[in-house]
Amino acid sequence: MNRIFSGVQPTGNLHLGNYLGAIKNWVGMQNDYECIYCIVDLHAITVAQDPVELLANTREVTAGLIAAGIDPERSIIFNQSQVASHAELAWLFNCITPLGWLNRMTQFKEKAGKKRDNAVLGLYAYPVLMAADILLYRATHVPVGEDQKQHLELSRDIAGAFNRLYDQEYFPLPEPLILGEAKRVMSLRDGRAKMSKSEASENSRINLTDDAETIQRKIRRAKTDSEPGMSLDAENRPEAANLLGIYAALNDESVEVVAARFTGKGFAEFKLELADLAAAKLKPIAAEMRRLMASTDHIDDILKKGGARAAAMAEPNLAEIKKIIGLLDP
Ligand code: AMP
Ligand code: TRP
Repeated sequence: MNRIFSGVQPTGNLHLGNYLGAIKNWVGMQNDYECIYCIVDLHAITVAQDPVELLANTREVTAGLIAAGIDPERSIIFNQSQVASHAELAWLFNCITPLGWLNRMTQFKEKAGKKRDNAVLGLYAYPVLMAADILLYRATHVPVGEDQKQHLELSRDIAGAFNRLYDQEYFPLPEPLILGEAKRVMSLRDGRAKMSKSEASENSRINLTDDAETIQRKIRRAKTDSEPGMSLDAENRPEAANLLGIYAALNDESVEVVAARFTGKGFAEFKLELADLAAAKLKPIAAEMRRLMASTDHIDDILKKGGARAAAMAEPNLAEIKKIIGLLDP
């Protein structure tokens, strides 16, 4: 049985990149796979978090996933810290992961910045916890945006290292699923920077909770270039290619089809249509998020039930893994 696992950090500002790169794809997978979707709060605390905001963001991201179409009855949706086996398996993997593998992780280098010695151990070990998330459920497929590809490769390496070390075929090597026409949605202010929750400028991203007016304003102000017409050339015309990709992904079309339709038309006309499309697609999601967030008890109840279902799958697997390693569980 193919099993999906994916995660999203509860760090506020769910944006169009999260939606098109990940969440939108997760929704469709519920028909074909057994799906486990996790709000990765233990990953979030690898950078400083305000406790009150962390709680609020955990609920907000949960509401976002459900509003986008994740069905908590069919799929499992829960927050990571509820299931202690994630942290426990991460420790077991820490003991077989060479430092050299972690030293290659570009996300750590970006997040740690120049003051590497001040970066915390958890930020460095982040990809090991991610491997534990996935492998704890022996998931076979992991739908993510392109920025997570390197972490996924590390998860496969760790699975392979464990299997070889203990001479077992215990873990399947998880396959990344990087899907859709917007695998890497870029900032509206800079076509070479990823759209991100942590970017200070609100104008760089479209949040799932933005109203139609805000979406229209942000798209109208989005950076463009001085060349005429739209382009698929992400290398030389990143802003134009990014806007085309967003349009295509939102409208479930290929970028080629969209580019052909806008041949000979300028940015102004394209932006008007894109803004209308984005506003129409995001409006029902924002409305449903607001409705869900009005009842935190209901959201907490969904997470609690999801956590219990996840733990029931995780605990027997962890017991088996500990047995393979030779850890006594009398
Ligand atoms: P995060 O918010 O970093 O936890 O990311 C959650 C999911 O959204 C992951 O699968 C990411 O790969 C995806 N994602 C985040 N930012 C972008 C982006 N700018 N473009 C495409 N996918 C993204
Ligand atoms: N690191 C991922 C991100 O920032 C989130 C994540 C944590 C994840 N654990 C995971 C994604 C397991 C897929 C599978 O986007």
